[in-house]
Amino acid sequence: MTDSIAAALAAVRERVGGRGLSAYVLTFGCQQNEADSEKLRGMALDMGYSLCDAPDSADLILVNTCAIREHAELRALSIIGGYKHVREKNPNAVIGVCGCMAAEEHRADELRHRYPYVSFTLAPGELHLLPERVLSALSGRRTVVSADPTAYPPPAEGLPVVRTGGHRAWVSIMYGCNNFCTYCIVPYVRGREQSRPAEAIIAEVRALIESGVKDITLLGQNVNSYRAEIDFATLLRRLSEIPGEYLLRFMTSHPKDVPESLVRAIGECEHIAPHFHLPLQSGSNEILRRMNRRYTAERYLETVEALRASRPGIALTSDIIVGFPGETDADFEATLDILRRVRFDMIYSFIYSPRKGTPAASYPDAVPAEVAHERMNRLLALQDGLSRDAAQLYLGAECRVLVDTPSKDGREGIMSGRTDSGKLVHFTAKNTETGRFALVRIERAEAFALYGSEI
Ligand code: SAH
Ligand code: SF4
Ligand code: F3S
Repeated sequence: MTDSIAAALAAVRERVGGRGLSAYVLTFGCQQNEADSEKLRGMALDMGYSLCDAPDSADLILVNTCAIREHAELRALSIIGGYKHVREKNPNAVIGVCGCMAAEEHRADELRHRYPYVSFTLAPGELHLLPERVLSALSGRRTVVSADPTAYPPPAEGLPVVRTGGHRAWVSIMYGCNNFCTYCIVPYVRGREQSRPAEAIIAEVRALIESGVKDITLLGQNVNSYRAEIDFATLLRRLSEIPGEYLLRFMTSHPKDVPESLVRAIGECEHIAPHFHLPLQSGSNEILRRMNRRYTAERYLETVEALRASRPGIALTSDIIVGFPGETDADFEATLDILRRVRFDMIYSFIYSPRKGTPAASYPDAVPAEVAHERMNRLLALQDGLSRDAAQLYLGAECRVLVDTPSKDGREGIMSGRTDSGKLVHFTAKNTETGRFALVRIERAEAFALYGSEI
């Protein structure tokens, strides 16, 4: 942390400290945003706020927004709209809109004009400016501005952090994205790729493992394009050398950046979880080209084969977009075909949502909404069967499960956790301790969950 950040934190602390003020942080979007929120919470605590879990009585409200699809933005705007009443009840409340939406110029304009009770915006590359913005707001100044994501400085190391994942933790290893997939807003709001120094990452992961964290997810929009002194495969190998009982996960990876060295590392390092999330987006080469994904369906299949050869049994999950402009029935069939061939354990599927300022938003050949919905239903029906089949392979197996929580259905002695491959398991446990690895025999398998007993 730089001296200027420390000074700004201290200045707010002086204003706020000891007055019993509280801060509320609400997060939308991906794990990267969750990880950013852990830093927002860390800085709020350092500034002298206590943390609370409802906005009604909070003195500082931070909404960490997502801009990936229109739906995510509208949800955030509607919640921010509701804070008008919070501000009426507590005129001193400071309301900040953080995250990806805050970096969009048209949203910053909208917030400035239509949401006068929003005190400041804070784009993803400006996290370290939180204390400064809060300080201004406490002095009655509004800073509702749009950032220039191409000018984000290297992310500050050493910001305070409040981790909320217990025995699971996120570690950002790179920020931003250079890929400019034609549908995607992320490069415009998160700026260019910046990799953290390897030694800083290794030290952070080591400290987490030494403190008892069992499952660490390395985060970035395109983790496998990580490049500092070393590349991603080498970083994974270095991290795997840390002694202890733990798993390393990472997301998200881009299929164009899976060299043989990475495939080999995944096969050879037992601390790396046997799970690879590899967004395909579409099975049609023409659509992949129009998406600027820079791989073909054939290349993707080769990568899948190589991963399965290197790490037998590896779970594969993916992201699919349906209804991308110009997607024909034949293009969509090509996507279904590749799903049947790969047999993913699970997919996340999205209907294409035009994002202002991205190339695809001005493509003329939009797919009608009814067609996109119908395709989505067919996709879900197919994948449901495939996920069910993939889950059946676990029947009778003895799996290591990291125990997370008592099962949500409230039955006594039933705990939930995840296999090394990331599958959710509900099981009859020998004890209710969480954060431990249990050996579980799988007795029943459904598309989204496995059921069994600890042995
Ligand atoms: N960096 C990651 C994650 C990006 S966002 C990656 O490259 O995969 C997560 C997913 O949201 C994407 O994989 C994509 O499937 C989906 N997505 C992104 N932009 C979208 C849009 N405009 N409409 C619908 N889905 C979108
Ligand atoms: Fe978006 Fe593509 Fe970058 Fe992922 S790789 S964040 S989909 S531009
Ligand atoms: Fe959303 Fe930003 Fe993540 S747009 S998906 S929160 S990178």
